[in-house]
Amino acid sequence: MAEEVQGQAAEESESAESSEATIAVHWREEGYYPPPPKFIGQANASDPAILDRFAEENFPECFREYAELLHWDEYWHTTLDTSNPPFWKWFAGGKLNASYNCVDRHLAKDRNKAALIWVSEDENEADAVITYQELYRRVNEFAAVLRDLGLQAGDRVTLHMPMVPELPVTMLACARLGVVHSQVFAGFSGGACGGRIADSGSKILITMDGYYRSGDLLDHKVKADEAVEAARKEGQEVDKVLVWRRFPGQYSAKTPMVEGRDVFVDELLAGHRGAVVEPVSMPAEAPLFLMYTSGTTGRPKGCQHSTGGYLSYVAGTSRFYQDIHPDDTYWCMADIGWITGHSYIVYGPLALGTTTVLYEGTPNYPDAGRPWRIAERLGVNIFHTSPTAIRMLRKVGPDEPAKYDFHFKCMTTVGEPIEPEVYRWYYKYVGKGEAIITDTWWQTETGGFIGTGLPALFAMKPGSCGPAALGIYLDILDENGESIPKGSGKAGNIVSRAPWPGIFQTIWGQPDRFVSTYFAKYNKDPKSTDWHDWPYFAGDGAVQAEDGYFRILGRVDDVINVAGHRLGTKELESSALAVEEVAEAAAVPVVDDVRGRAVEMYIALKPGYEASAEIEGKVKTAIETDIGKIARPKNIWIVPDMPKTRSGKIMRRVIAATSNFADVGDITTLANPEVVEKIKEQVQSAKRAKGEQPRELSETEEQEIKTFGSE
Ligand code: WTA
Repeated sequence: MAEEVQGQAAEESESAESSEATIAVHWREEGYYPPPPKFIGQANASDPAILDRFAEENFPECFREYAELLHWDEYWHTTLDTSNPPFWKWFAGGKLNASYNCVDRHLAKDRNKAALIWVSEDENEADAVITYQELYRRVNEFAAVLRDLGLQAGDRVTLHMPMVPELPVTMLACARLGVVHSQVFAGFSGGACGGRIADSGSKILITMDGYYRSGDLLDHKVKADEAVEAARKEGQEVDKVLVWRRFPGQYSAKTPMVEGRDVFVDELLAGHRGAVVEPVSMPAEAPLFLMYTSGTTGRPKGCQHSTGGYLSYVAGTSRFYQDIHPDDTYWCMADIGWITGHSYIVYGPLALGTTTVLYEGTPNYPDAGRPWRIAERLGVNIFHTSPTAIRMLRKVGPDEPAKYDFHFKCMTTVGEPIEPEVYRWYYKYVGKGEAIITDTWWQTETGGFIGTGLPALFAMKPGSCGPAALGIYLDILDENGESIPKGSGKAGNIVSRAPWPGIFQTIWGQPDRFVSTYFAKYNKDPKSTDWHDWPYFAGDGAVQAEDGYFRILGRVDDVINVAGHRLGTKELESSALAVEEVAEAAAVPVVDDVRGRAVEMYIALKPGYEASAEIEGKVKTAIETDIGKIARPKNIWIVPDMPKTRSGKIMRRVIAATSNFADVGDITTLANPEVVEKIKEQVQSAKRAKGEQPRELSETEEQEIKTFGSE
């Protein structure tokens, strides 16, 4: 119980002088929540000896322990090959197949066990329970379809699929052939999907006709047409669009099929009943998939993940951090369209041969009790979600969890920091005081958790992700590359000093950007083949407490974290700039009680145009079309002018402060300081009129806002 928690005493950490390089951070030290004895007794990692096995002197060989969770067709000869830095090769010389590891090898013992339990958003529709045997059959048949379309190892295929069992089937069928899948979040627009098709050079798009979202059966096929068109504009032709049907045999979309290009998957499958496709034995360093993420420039980055290193890493972290045992019922409420779903719905849990639950819809449909009904009915005992989902469920139904008889042994969170108050609700009402909560810090690029504590060995401290994960050696560096000592109360850039098997291999088609974005900052010798010279720069600010726990403060670049997902300001801005009347655009974060951050857009018009609701509408539509509804701005402010430096750079920190009712700071160096007061008056009075009240910002929120887009 929360009441029994030790060390509640608040303690103010020493304040430190702030400089350009380091920001002093003082926050209330939270108490620890120790794991319950019942959990420790059954945990996969309960003996502290594991920490010694993964100590730095045992690096990189310590990661054999993860790789040995898999079946290898050929054993590797070099655990970590550093000959071409920073393009690390893990388990070089080894060969394996990811589909075989996630499906075939479980048949001997667990043929009739549920691999996937899929829950429709419609509560009247039956679950689909797919056993390992059934998964094997479906993956093979679909792999045969793909093979007969001419796809081969190394080809890329774009998927734009919702949360249905056909999505993991498609991914595993690709993996069976060594085909590189690139799944785009279904909520992204057709345009965004098209850009990713072009970037990856996919000739085949795999989609679904429709799916349920908040009670509506959406026409999803329409986005395929837009995607093909957008890809064509960038010079990439799509030859075939494979359309799974949400209800096989019945078409759920209004958008017509395109003759010669579009095919129903259920019809193709009819010709491949019972087909068996031998899994292709792939080199460990062959790419398994691409996952696009936002960066500071307009173009999204296709993070390329490897077969052997990635699969080892997600299997190992699923085993030790999510504490997955083969007989657990594990539910990660994320979407497979993000890295979380790849690693911790599909590849990690299936590699371990457990039962993984997939839910199609929104967590609060038709009401805030939905997740708890699912957990109760299926006997879910491990639950993984984001702080955003927790905030939302807490807001709409604070007492809901108590009405249902479910019991979690552990829960994980990802994507953003979880506020101590939200943590406490999650612990008490969802965890019922019995479940350990593990906060996991990581990124699309990292493949799996890298900052988090082993649940049976480290007590949790709300607001901190915990220490570095096994075999990961995190540090906080200042701008000069000097290490900032723990407990100093000073923040800096969090880095991983060494590589690990889950790290992405490159940015698809942009190897120079891979080096410049993630390694150039702290590398002193580009020729060095010693990994010690190549710290990984994660792009997050962080501070380390005396106890070694890290607290993540947010992005140090111009990326806005909405509901745990990164949106690039440049992407948002270039979309707004495509609207004819718009001369200048700036995207800033605004603190949001549910989504963590929301986007606000500031727009200046070309001469001769007047501000109007119509132009606001155009900007909103442009962003929704180019990126998707997730990026929809909370507000669009058409302002007379943007606050600028003398060199003409928009001062994002000034408008971010305005949107958040924060202090705008020093504006004496602006070219047009008088405009700040005007904008403030316009925006803040409109906000008050809409009922958006000023809200006190936490120390870290204030830091982020005041330094946003640093000039
Ligand atoms: C943020 C999601 C605080 C961070 C897996 C990171 C977090 C970005 C946490 C990656 C956490 C992720 N605490 N912040 N536990 N987890 N972040 O690529 O800023 O969508 O860089 O990967 O989310 O987002 P991405």
